[in-house]
Amino acid sequence: MTNSLLILAGDGIGPEVMDEVKRVIGWFGDKRDLPFDVSEDLVGGAAYDKHGTPLHDDTMAKAQEVDAVLLGAVGGPKYDDLDFSVKPERGLLRLRKEMDLFANLRPAQCFDALADFSSLKTEIVSGLDIMIVRELTSGVYFGEPRGIHMEDNMRVGVNTQRYTEAEIERGARAAFDLAMKRGKKLCSMEKANVMESGVLWRDVVTEVHQDYPEVELSHMYADNGAMQLVRAPKQFDVIYTDNLFGDILSDCAAMLTGSLGMLPSASLGSPMANGRPKAMYEPVHGSAPDITGQGKANPIACILSFAMALRYSFDKGAEADRLEGAIETVLADGARTADLMGPDGGTPISTTQMGDAILAALDASL
Ligand code: IPM
Ligand code: MG
Repeated sequence: MTNSLLILAGDGIGPEVMDEVKRVIGWFGDKRDLPFDVSEDLVGGAAYDKHGTPLHDDTMAKAQEVDAVLLGAVGGPKYDDLDFSVKPERGLLRLRKEMDLFANLRPAQCFDALADFSSLKTEIVSGLDIMIVRELTSGVYFGEPRGIHMEDNMRVGVNTQRYTEAEIERGARAAFDLAMKRGKKLCSMEKANVMESGVLWRDVVTEVHQDYPEVELSHMYADNGAMQLVRAPKQFDVIYTDNLFGDILSDCAAMLTGSLGMLPSASLGSPMANGRPKAMYEPVHGSAPDITGQGKANPIACILSFAMALRYSFDKGAEADRLEGAIETVLADGARTADLMGPDGGTPISTTQMGDAILAALDASL
């Protein structure tokens, strides 16, 4: 079976961090006899500049065909005033929606070497390893009606939170399946105290639990969940939540680990004809226009996203472990990009130097 990848590096630091990922992909081809058939295309502002749309139909069609899409980042101040329908973010949302990537896996893992970088006390975050499963194709991000209209001479903005039980259920199954492979604990978060969609969410997750008796299930209101994430994050194993709460809670969880530059994500859909899930992998961080083009960006989140691709798309868990292990090694050895400069300062290394260090650690792992 061939391994096909579509790289959409996007905007801002996207292309810089993706350059390092490409070297890592090449390494697996050369040294592990694991070749990838890589193609590249545009997304976000880069696609808008060339085609007047943040995602060309041809790119969308290619994304549907490959085993996995690797995305860098989209957006930037240059595009702030564009019409909503052609904003860079719409390219990303279209990929998620049309590929039907309903399960967004966002791990928040604290590397030992970075435990004192967190804004929280070291003992609260050291050893932290949680997985947020965010529903990604429905909810208020896509619900109709939506828009801004006039009522009695006044503008009214509308968005709709809408979930079918099938949508809640398939995401819940993905979350329970993950919990079974991890610590067998699942916490579902919604606002069942104020939202009917939250009442349904809680009901459906409780029903799905029947099929996973070994998993310990709890429910939490999402506001309390946010508080618990900063109070005692290690109480969680897997968290399952909706599209909007998941967006917010995953940024919160990300910061527990010390840097947004460290966190990968996987967005998974239903299996394709070859048995592999529809999939897109991307760092949680954005396009970081403030540091673009300066060689300062941390490529680790994007490289870890490729590690997730090895694990979830290509069934190469041992190679994913190897790559994650190489990253742990370079961090333990003190390699730090600018975002990882602690209070004591030091000299940061560049994006490419971090890539060099990771490749050297990979070589050493053989
Ligand atoms: C994320 C981002 C996106 C989202 C934006 C860029 C559309 O914040 O992936 O978390 O809101 O989902
Ligand atoms: Mg977000």
